[in-house]
Amino acid sequence: MNSDGKMRLAAYYNPTGHHVASWRHPRAQADASFNIKHYVEIAQTAERAKFDLLFLADANATREAAVEAISRSVQFVAHFEPMTLLSALAMVTEKIGLIGTVSTSWNEPYHIARKFASLDHISNGRAGWNIVTSGQKAEAMNFGKDDAYDHHDRYVRAREVVKIVLGLWDSWEDDAFVIDTKSGLYYEPSKRHDLHWSTDMYKVRGPLNVPRPPQGYPVMVQAGGSDDGRETASMFAEAIFSPHLNIPQAKAYYDDVKGRMKKYGRNPDHCKILPGLSVICRPTQAEADADYQALQELIHPIVAREMLNTMLGHRIDLTKVDMDGPLPEMPDHDGGHYASLVELGKREKMSIRQLAMHAAGARAKNVIKGSPEFIADYMQEWFEAECCDGFTIMPAYIPGALDDFCEMVVPELQKRGLFRTEYEGNTLREHLGVPRPENQHVDTNQWSQVPYRLAEAAE
Ligand SMILES: Cc1cc2nc3c(=O)[nH]c(=O)nc-3n(C[C@H](O)[C@H](O)[C@H](O)COP(=O)(O)O)c2cc1C
Repeated sequence: MNSDGKMRLAAYYNPTGHHVASWRHPRAQADASFNIKHYVEIAQTAERAKFDLLFLADANATREAAVEAISRSVQFVAHFEPMTLLSALAMVTEKIGLIGTVSTSWNEPYHIARKFASLDHISNGRAGWNIVTSGQKAEAMNFGKDDAYDHHDRYVRAREVVKIVLGLWDSWEDDAFVIDTKSGLYYEPSKRHDLHWSTDMYKVRGPLNVPRPPQGYPVMVQAGGSDDGRETASMFAEAIFSPHLNIPQAKAYYDDVKGRMKKYGRNPDHCKILPGLSVICRPTQAEADADYQALQELIHPIVAREMLNTMLGHRIDLTKVDMDGPLPEMPDHDGGHYASLVELGKREKMSIRQLAMHAAGARAKNVIKGSPEFIADYMQEWFEAECCDGFTIMPAYIPGALDDFCEMVVPELQKRGLFRTEYEGNTLREHLGVPRPENQHVDTNQWSQVPYRLAEAAE
């Protein structure tokens, strides 16, 4: 819940939409992954609807899956690199925030700092960094390694990378570049601060060769769900994309992360938690149900089986069992999504095929379908239960389901006073309501308000 009583909305873009068969839907753009015109249109659509930000998911590899499945799928096969794409979108939009997913495992901190500082300048203060640690083997194999770093090591690395990046963004005070052609002084030497970072993992002298970003720091975004992920989010994140399926789950996560923030001297209002909602809105419930059903029927059974296999951690080989029979006895649950799928299969007496179709359709996210009033009611209930500060809208297929959300649900939320009708400011920080951090070398007491503490920098 935000102090102004209004939701924050993020538009989450997989190229053709969140649903695994979205690319085959008649109202999707099948070649979206490498169609710049499509991205321009969907960025402008979200901006017309006054979304806070758009968010590009990414991985540094083609997803690893059996060829017969991946060749019938579109998610994470081949698509544009996000920072390049966001720079192009910055030139055709004016207000909407632009979030890029960039890995702390497979980029040097200097590269990350430089790219986001540049994007923040190019977009006049609209950049944000979705910090991911990259657990996929396929990504590691593109960067000279045989496998991803261990989960905990990934987060240790991520925290150090973030601190270096923040330090590099403070290389120059806001007014360091005087550019005085008369006196011949380009920058004021006392306003330059080299980093001199040196640990076993990274040595970075600095300064960054880009002036301080207009937002001070581009907005820090995260989506980690594990204990390490939550701790990292509570140190740094100013927006979080979370995957919860019901209010009690979302509330427990919300209270936990906001509680952890206090330990770092942070104001809990300065991190916006935005659970993911995959949405299909049609004028009536019956039309929405029919649309979802049609989408489900477009899932190729091989793709569904492969996705269920992955979600079950390949603990049994589903290619060797009868798809129309029940799920065989599974090894012990280890909690999380695996457990909930196995339980669902048993409880509803589903065949493997039915369970696979269900799992592939939802992709472990909250799927909601219905009329504009129904969807607005659902979002209002969550918002008023104080388990979120808004939502990450993952249209099931794009542009169709995005257009429907913008044309039908947004006006309904606005009518109820739950969403803005105009942007209040110009930068992403202003949209979200998170403060612009001072340069650490200028205001050494400001750290209670921003996600970084100098004293902890080289911990
Ligand atoms: C809504 C949402 C979007 C995500 N997008 C990406 C992404 O684009 N790229 C990526 O590598 N990971 C992405 N992730 C995965 C998270 O970064 C994270 O690894 C995952 O939630 C597991 O949490 P953990 O790292 O704390 O174990 C996303 C997660 C969620 C919930």
